Amino acid sequence: MPLTLPQFTIKPHPHLRSDSERQQILAAPGFGRYMTDHMVTIRWTGEAGWHDAALGPYAPLTIDPAATGLHYGQSIFEGLKAYRQPDGTVALFRPEANARRFQASARRMAMPELPVELFMKACELLVSQDRCWVPDAAEHSLYLRPLMFATESTLSVRPSTEYLFLLMASPAGSYFPDGIRPLSVWIAEDYVRAAPGGTGAAKFAGNYAAAFLAQNDAAEHGCDQVVWLDAIERRWIEEVGAMNLFFVRGHGPAAEITTPALTGSLLPGITRDCILTLARDLGHPVSESRIGLEEWRTGAADGSITEVFACGTAAVITPVGRARTRTTAWQMADGRPGPLTLRLREELVAVQTGCAPDPHGWVHHP
Ligand code: PLP
Ligand code: COI
Repeated sequence: MPLTLPQFTIKPHPHLRSDSERQQILAAPGFGRYMTDHMVTIRWTGEAGWHDAALGPYAPLTIDPAATGLHYGQSIFEGLKAYRQPDGTVALFRPEANARRFQASARRMAMPELPVELFMKACELLVSQDRCWVPDAAEHSLYLRPLMFATESTLSVRPSTEYLFLLMASPAGSYFPDGIRPLSVWIAEDYVRAAPGGTGAAKFAGNYAAAFLAQNDAAEHGCDQVVWLDAIERRWIEEVGAMNLFFVRGHGPAAEITTPALTGSLLPGITRDCILTLARDLGHPVSESRIGLEEWRTGAADGSITEVFACGTAAVITPVGRARTRTTAWQMADGRPGPLTLRLREELVAVQTGCAPDPHGWVHHP
């Protein structure tokens, strides 16, 4: 297998969308609705390793109906963002962390690991090529979606010997259509997202498919998102939808922040890691530990838990205002976004958009 990384072939799109069409999309991009003009593709086979790296027009794929990824689910993805900086340049936020998590997801699904340098190069090339698609508006960004799935044509039940890596980009407004309105969450008591030894810590396609039915339950009960509990005791809070969760105890500078520990059945969020760091920088005690459902409910009632928020690349930081199970419902404080939630959000967005110093080296200029 070759040890050197493949060079990229660059084939710009012969028919770019017009300035006016792009401006119209960027004025109200929504989330994940529109793709930019280009994408990156890289192939892997057992014999040739990573090869055929190319940046070309965004276009449909031709896939063999027997591609094992479609049948047996070897499919992983990532999500990261590029932000317009005050000087008009564009910077990626923590792409190396996403590259490493992509490798961890690949290992879990018996897929080949894309070298970090290749992941980074793919992001840099696409963002540079499609930089006119990076929105200028506050709270808007370019969302990058790396994806890898199995392409070998066989019905044999074993890891594929061929894979396709893709990188696409989509201009993004607010993930939730009505901005930072506090979320209402539904505690999933009938379904489990991930069990010990399972795939919960991987950004694996099947985790999302398996969550949709519970998400439908949430919607039927008037809630925005699902909160997952641990699979064994069905008692400990894990995460919410496609976000990690944080709990605040107390008020002001002494407020303490806790997030569920990484037990192996929840995603090690990169935003989660940023918040632990930023909160520590602001002098707040932080901890990663177990938080029980009952503790949340009683803490909300007696006022010891003062704020709850969810975080992720797509959603940034979003307050949680209300929670419910089949039998009970509770509200966080007055149901409005808490001061520490808003402060941490402001701090994080300021670093991402180049409006605050970057002491941790999170901002990557292509
Ligand atoms: N949990 C799940 C299940 C997710 O899909 C995501 C989104 O990527 C997160 C948490 C948050 O992770 P990150 O902050 O790296 O986007
Ligand atoms: C993200 O926050 O990047 C996600 O992947 C969430 C969702 C769009 C799957």
